[in-house]
Amino acid sequence: MTQRIAVMLLATFAVYFGLLAAQAALAGEKAAAKNPQIERGRYIVKIAGCNDCHTAGYALTGGKVPESQWLTGDKLGWRGPWGTTYPVNLRLYMQRLTQDQWVKAAKNMQTRPPMPWFALRDMSEQDLKALYAYVKTLGPAGEPAPAFVPPGKEPQGPAVQFPAPPPQ
Ligand code: HEC
Repeated sequence: MTQRIAVMLLATFAVYFGLLAAQAALAGEKAAAKNPQIERGRYIVKIAGCNDCHTAGYALTGGKVPESQWLTGDKLGWRGPWGTTYPVNLRLYMQRLTQDQWVKAAKNMQTRPPMPWFALRDMSEQDLKALYAYVKTLGPAGEPAPAFVPPGKEPQGPAVQFPAPPPQ
């Protein structure tokens, strides 16, 4: 009897959280439809490839990841002579910054590979603000990405192995 109640409760929770996830997935799209700045931010995120690395499974499934999970970072490491880097959870990252702090950070950022920091540096201030507005609209979600692993140390999980960069 108690077991049956537990199963029923679990089923109710599953439906409830399923609905919540579906709602979150729609939130970004709906907000984008109403606000041109947010729509622009969503467009930039899609065409600048931020999801390719910062959303688990995005590039491998041809972008078939629910929007509710976009930009939550990835546990897949990128390993090369620089060590192993992990695409940060941008949904959490943006929460810590004001719009002005974000623009400043993006203009001065220089990360380890393969993050294309130079693309952010060259983005217009208007586009950076739109990107910020969109990610803030999605809201915080997910866990922080794993910490950077220094060169020569084995990462715990899977990592893409890069060759050494060509001599310059
Ligand atoms: C090829 C993969 C890749 C792409 C594409 C990519 N990133 Fe990253 N990103 C990373 C990795 C890996 C890191 C962690 C770098 C490190 O640890 O030094 C990172 C770090 C960051 C950080 C944190 C920088 C800091 O100072 O800590 C921000 C912000 C960021 N990315 C934003 C973006 C945005 C916005 C886009 C789209 C325009 C984007 N990234 C596209 C892989 C990528």
